Amino acid sequence: MTESQRAVAAVSGSPVDADGFRQALAVHAAGVVIITAQTDGIPTGLTATSFSSVSLDPPLVSFYVDRSSTTWPAMRSADHFAVNVLASDQADLAVRFARKDVDRFAEPTRWRPGPLGAPLLKDVSAHLICLPHDTVDVGDHILVVGLVADARVHSPGRPLIYHQGRFGRFFAYP
Ligand SMILES: Cc1cc2nc3c(=O)[nH]c(=O)nc-3n(C[C@H](O)[C@H](O)[C@H](O)COP(=O)(O)O)c2cc1C
Repeated sequence: MTESQRAVAAVSGSPVDADGFRQALAVHAAGVVIITAQTDGIPTGLTATSFSSVSLDPPLVSFYVDRSSTTWPAMRSADHFAVNVLASDQADLAVRFARKDVDRFAEPTRWRPGPLGAPLLKDVSAHLICLPHDTVDVGDHILVVGLVADARVHSPGRPLIYHQGRFGRFFAYP
C-alpha cells in the first residue's frame, strides 16, 4: 500500500469507488469549450469541460486531455491552439467534437482559420489563442497549460453548461 492509499483508507476505510466518484463530479456544472489546432494543414479539435483559468500574470489557462485521446498526438505537435468557448445553442457542436465517426470540421460545422492557423469556430461566446506553455502527466490525463496570446469575447451572456451528463443554459439571479 502506498502512502496516499493509506491516507485514503484512513478517511473512508476503502478506496473511493468509481461510480461514486463519477456521480460526485457530475454534480459540478462546467462550461464547455472546443480546443482546436492545426497540424500539417489539417484541423483537429475536441470537446472539453476541464478548461480553467490558471494565472492572470502571465495569462495562463489549462485543460486536461485523456491519455487515450486520438486527437491529442496531432494537437500536441501544433505550435499553438485555440479555445472556443461555446454558446448555449451549440450543444450539437459539443457532441460532434466528441465523436470519432465524423469529420468534425465538415458541414454543418462553421469555422475559419484563425490569425495563426488554428480553426476558430463561428458564433462561439469567446475564443482564446494560446501558445503551449507546459504539459504535466497527471493520472490518466495530461494537464495542458497555455499562454494566452489573444482573447476575444463575442457574446458573453449565454454560455453552454454541462451538468450531470446533460447540456443546459445558465440563468443569473436578477
Ligand atoms: C461534454 C464533454 C466534455 C468533455 N471533456 C473532456 C475533457 O475535458 N478532456 C478530454 O480529454 N476529453 C473530454 N471529452 C471527451 C472528448 O471530447 C472525446 O473523448 C474525444 O474527443 C474523443 O475523441 P479523440 O480520440 O479524438 O480525443 C468530453 C466530451 C464531452 C461530450
